[in-house]
Amino acid sequence: MTESLVSIDKLVKRFGAETAVNNLSFEIKKGSCTALLGPNGAGKTTTLRMLAGLLHPTSGKISFDGLENGDNRKYIGYLPQHPVFYNWMSASEFLVYVGELAHLSKKESQQKADELLELVGLADAKKKKIGGFSGGMKQRLGIAQAMIHEPKLVMLDEPVSALDPVGRREVIEMMRELKKKTTILFSTHVLHDAEEVCDDIVIIRKGELALSDSLVGLRKKHQHDVIIIESESNLTDWANSLTTIPTVQDVTIAGTTATIIVTELEAARIAILQDIVQKKVPVSTFKIGQSSLEDVFMKVVRS
Ligand SMILES: Nc1ncnc2c1ncn2[C@@H]1O[C@H](COP(=O)(O)OP(=O)(O)O)[C@@H](O)[C@H]1O
Ligand SMILES: [Mg+2]
Repeated sequence: MTESLVSIDKLVKRFGAETAVNNLSFEIKKGSCTALLGPNGAGKTTTLRMLAGLLHPTSGKISFDGLENGDNRKYIGYLPQHPVFYNWMSASEFLVYVGELAHLSKKESQQKADELLELVGLADAKKKKIGGFSGGMKQRLGIAQAMIHEPKLVMLDEPVSALDPVGRREVIEMMRELKKKTTILFSTHVLHDAEEVCDDIVIIRKGELALSDSLVGLRKKHQHDVIIIESESNLTDWANSLTTIPTVQDVTIAGTTATIIVTELEAARIAILQDIVQKKVPVSTFKIGQSSLEDVFMKVVRS
């Protein structure tokens, strides 16, 4: 069992009558990359801001490396969801400035800036003005900024959500490198982003924990055989009646497509085909597949 770096215990944040984070508990393991996944408004930013010490929890405990509710800011690097840069500064000037704000000497800041620009792949652009940077370059500079004081935990709030596919790729690759150096917690509303880099996933919904597991564990538990049936007409009544077949575990219907999760593919295939013939269901496609984590995510988020 890997040691925990951060323990979050029954964290609550209310804004007036609104509860943004409710009774949230999870662990961040040392050296792991954890994705905080949830739809817009789920409470991701609020959670990260509490962890970063920028927002005071209404109640609950945050233990960092064994220390309870202390000032953890020096151990944490944070890239906000909408970072603001001084466009007239060069990348290098910006990092030196940030280093000095973090109480490094000018010399240390310059050294650190060079090292980080190398790490995030901006060494060639170090003298260029930030104003001319692409979205991906800005995010990478933001990640460098969050690393300036060698934090034990780097938190990135939706680091790829606003990027085009090229920028997204750049930042995902960058996070893979970063993973080798530090513990990462990043938020996203896109499961695919989480699947690409994280070891652990924490899914939240309406401020509450919906599911937390390792990516490997999630795959093991939630990947099932499915039968996908498309029809020329609405399948709702018929498809719902399939749940009486013993090997049918679950049926979801979207328009004229039914996705049927089954435990024994062979038995289910025969039973369903027989039923189709018997009831003269106007089927246009009958397909075998595997459920994806996307299905799990949609289910958790919608329920
Ligand atoms: N400063 C605030 N004042 C009032 N409500 C807020 C504030 N910040 C966030 N909220 C509310 O808390 C909920 C969670 O927001 P947020 O943490 O930003 O979600 P996410 O980052 O997952 O999209 C939302 O309903 C949002 O409107
Ligand atoms: Mg947010």
